Amino acid sequence: MVTASINMGTLSLDLTKQEPIPQAGVDAALAIMASGKLHRYGELGSKRSEVSSLEAEFAQEIGARFCVAMNSCGSTMFVALKSAGVKAGDAVLTNCFTLAPVPGAIAHAGARPVLVDVTDDFVIDLGDLERKVIASGAKTLLLSHMRGHVCDMKALMGICHRHGVQVIEDCAHTMGAAWDGKATGTWGRVGCFSLQSYKHANSGEGGLLVTDDEDVAAQAILFSGSYMLYRSHVARPDDAVFERWKYLTPNFSMRMGNLAAAVVRPQFGAVLKDRCARWNQRYAWLVAALDGVPHLRLPYRPEQENFVASSLQFSLIGLTKPQIEQVIAACAERGLHIKWFGADEPVGFTSVWAHWRYFGQPQSLPQAERVLGGLCDLRLPLSLSQVDCADIGAVVRDALSHVGQTQYCSLSTVRAELVEALVACREASTSSARTEIESNRLSEQYWDQTP
Ligand SMILES: Cc1ncc(COP(=O)(O)O)c(C=O)c1O
Repeated sequence: MVTASINMGTLSLDLTKQEPIPQAGVDAALAIMASGKLHRYGELGSKRSEVSSLEAEFAQEIGARFCVAMNSCGSTMFVALKSAGVKAGDAVLTNCFTLAPVPGAIAHAGARPVLVDVTDDFVIDLGDLERKVIASGAKTLLLSHMRGHVCDMKALMGICHRHGVQVIEDCAHTMGAAWDGKATGTWGRVGCFSLQSYKHANSGEGGLLVTDDEDVAAQAILFSGSYMLYRSHVARPDDAVFERWKYLTPNFSMRMGNLAAAVVRPQFGAVLKDRCARWNQRYAWLVAALDGVPHLRLPYRPEQENFVASSLQFSLIGLTKPQIEQVIAACAERGLHIKWFGADEPVGFTSVWAHWRYFGQPQSLPQAERVLGGLCDLRLPLSLSQVDCADIGAVVRDALSHVGQTQYCSLSTVRAELVEALVACREASTSSARTEIESNRLSEQYWDQTP
């Protein structure tokens, strides 16, 4: 067990740090720039483009027949809705717990959202989904695997099949993740992935649409802006399918360029697998550091959820809104900037359904109000060490111990944990003088906690 090193000082962690682009991506990008061929399409005698290669490789990686690259995941979700036949004015079911590009794609398609509630474990509430499917008559669900939390996909698909609802998956936070061994993005009719810098593979901006449906694929290629050059796509349906759609499908010019594709191609396969394992390692370290902290609840994650934790969420429970604000502020003072879904105003990347006023009066979601009111969010950059995770845990624990509600925490839990940490620390005490210091600190903490 590794313990905190900061001794309640200030953290100097950059939670927005990204991995460097692999050298193969840098080299490929330089070659593209030297050639000047940054646009994916050519006419006479052009070779297979970086973007077409990326699409073919990603389709194979995920196990889908077709893949269409675009300039963002937001674009792929919009094009997915259009290609799946959503028309202006249609109702589209979606999670209330998601980020702005998801309702944005629905608004872009001229549709209206029917928001589905969120559970205490941060996934879509399947009971509320079925109720709203029946009440709204909606035939499309844009399912957001928000922050990498994957619901019981077998149960969800069962509900959707029963009611004739097609599923489009927003996999912006689940590249490399699966439910019960089946990749996210392959459960529904369409899957949409993001290549934006904060995601699992980074091309700056970019999106990948995957599908097994040839009519969706042909329309998506045409919508994305292929002109009549769609034959240069590799992961595409036959010409006959394009014949059905080429006079009926507008060009929205949402293409990906060769530079973005060149940068991201070497980030799949073994590189992605390695990153996923490292994210989950950091998640486990942070969970260990936060386990048993009073007023803090970590979500239950079932065995079938093969998640990739590039971020961590927890709930603050049994606290008032001002107390939560106090905890967030205390962490920020120590250099730990927690994103909080309970804030009145949208901040940075974070907003909630009540902020999407372009849809009119916010829908009533009392469960979401409670869950999101306490929901805290931390990025897990791959640069975090085990000690960094212990430090984060110590800062959060300390902030929560100063909100004046410690009577709610179980002292025996805290004590048992400290004793365990102490024993582990002593066992490993040969490793460094720092461990010895930590061991003493924990020992003091233990006796401080003892009435
Ligand atoms: C949940 C969710 N879905 C979709 C997107 C869209 O991704 P992009 O930025 O590539 O449009 C984001 C972006 O952060 C997101 O957070």
